[in-house]
Amino acid sequence: MARNDTAEGAPAGRGQWGTRAGFILAAAGSAVGLGNVWKFPYVAGDNGGAVFLVVYLAIVFTVGVSVMLAEFVIGRAGERNPVGAFKRLGGGAWPTAGYIGVAAGIIILSFYSVVAGWTLAYVVKSATGLLAAPDAASYGARFAAFSSEPVEPLLWHALFMAFTVAIVLRGVKRGIEFSCVVLLPMLFVLLAVLAVRAVTLPGAVSGVEFYLAPDFSKLTPGIVLAALGQAFFSLSLGMGAMITYGSYLPHRVNLPGSVLWITGFDTLAAFVAGLVVLPAVFAFSLDPAAGPGLVFITLPAVFAQMPAGEVFAVLFFVLLAIAALTSSVSLLEVGVAYFVDERGMPRRTAAIAVGAFCFLAGIPASLSLGAWKDVTLFGKGILDLMDYAASNVMLPLGAIAIVAFVGWRMGGRALAEASGNGAHPFAWAGAWRFVCRYVAPIAVAWILIGGLGLRG
Ligand code: TRP
Repeated sequence: MARNDTAEGAPAGRGQWGTRAGFILAAAGSAVGLGNVWKFPYVAGDNGGAVFLVVYLAIVFTVGVSVMLAEFVIGRAGERNPVGAFKRLGGGAWPTAGYIGVAAGIIILSFYSVVAGWTLAYVVKSATGLLAAPDAASYGARFAAFSSEPVEPLLWHALFMAFTVAIVLRGVKRGIEFSCVVLLPMLFVLLAVLAVRAVTLPGAVSGVEFYLAPDFSKLTPGIVLAALGQAFFSLSLGMGAMITYGSYLPHRVNLPGSVLWITGFDTLAAFVAGLVVLPAVFAFSLDPAAGPGLVFITLPAVFAQMPAGEVFAVLFFVLLAIAALTSSVSLLEVGVAYFVDERGMPRRTAAIAVGAFCFLAGIPASLSLGAWKDVTLFGKGILDLMDYAASNVMLPLGAIAIVAFVGWRMGGRALAEASGNGAHPFAWAGAWRFVCRYVAPIAVAWILIGGLGLRG
């Protein structure tokens, strides 16, 4: 990509992406993570499989792409963290949306790092005999034993958080861009190899059917809300991560085109991960609704069926941990950008303080798979509750504010910013505006109300 993308219009003192490709990969790095490989298959498994997939895709390519473009527009026009950007461009009550976003990011990072810690642990476990288990069911027992330990998972959680802080300390460009350019493509290749192995396992066909043949009579408002929350979570939307990444963009970069690339990468990764996990679940007679442990139970069983399975397993969990890192970094970056821009805190102090806070807040999430298993609300444990509150409530609320802001408050400036003052006209400009003004706010509010059961 053209080098001169970078220098132009950079406000003094703010980081900038190296190239357009670097930006796309960094944003894709934020999007592609545990949400695709860990969360998507088990949420799909929990919500009827193929029905969920169809609703998910419909949401991603209408509401999802529109919210993402809206976030980049706000970020690039406001050149700030979410709170600062809303203050600068809107004032009034708008910055509230930014505060909700910062809070959502902190909640998500807290449990995200716990799960990412599991992937680190599984790197070591895969290399030291995990795959020698006698049958697929015993992987479930292994995972339950590990995740219910009081201390070991917390050490991995601490280690992962330390990596995240270390990258954010160095600033966006040097820290984030590089890891995405090389490692994401590798993860894609490996997922594709795994999908081939999984769908050719004996008995995988019923899993493929479960995943790809929708039965619309099973559709419920709860499934639609789950798909909405998953779409925002997976695309890193609704809390200002993409506002923050957009604020590091030079004005020349083509935003609508970038949005389609990033969404395409993310959706492909989730789709392929589902195609690995769900067929394998059926082939090994596991339970598709097993919840957060699903990948950690299913994938070892797949690796055990492959030649050089240990090598693949180690490589896979390393890549997954790195994919998680390029996402966790974007979660931490939002809070850090807020404290740096709005509170004048040094970057270093902000990164360490927010990281330490999220480590502490993650402890209950980790314990909720063991000692604190019985602490539940609405039938959900602490980790699930944090995820549900942030993903299915706070992100949709944030997204409503974001599209409403772009659709109703920014006026003509939004389209000018999205198209680079006409340098990058895009075919879906009219549709985007319409979705931001009407479709997305109404649909998201409606899904929230229906899915939360507020209509009784
Ligand atoms: N999208 C990431 C994933 O799928 C997680 C993530 C990173 C995120 N930044 C975010 C989720 C911002 C919501 C908001 O793993």
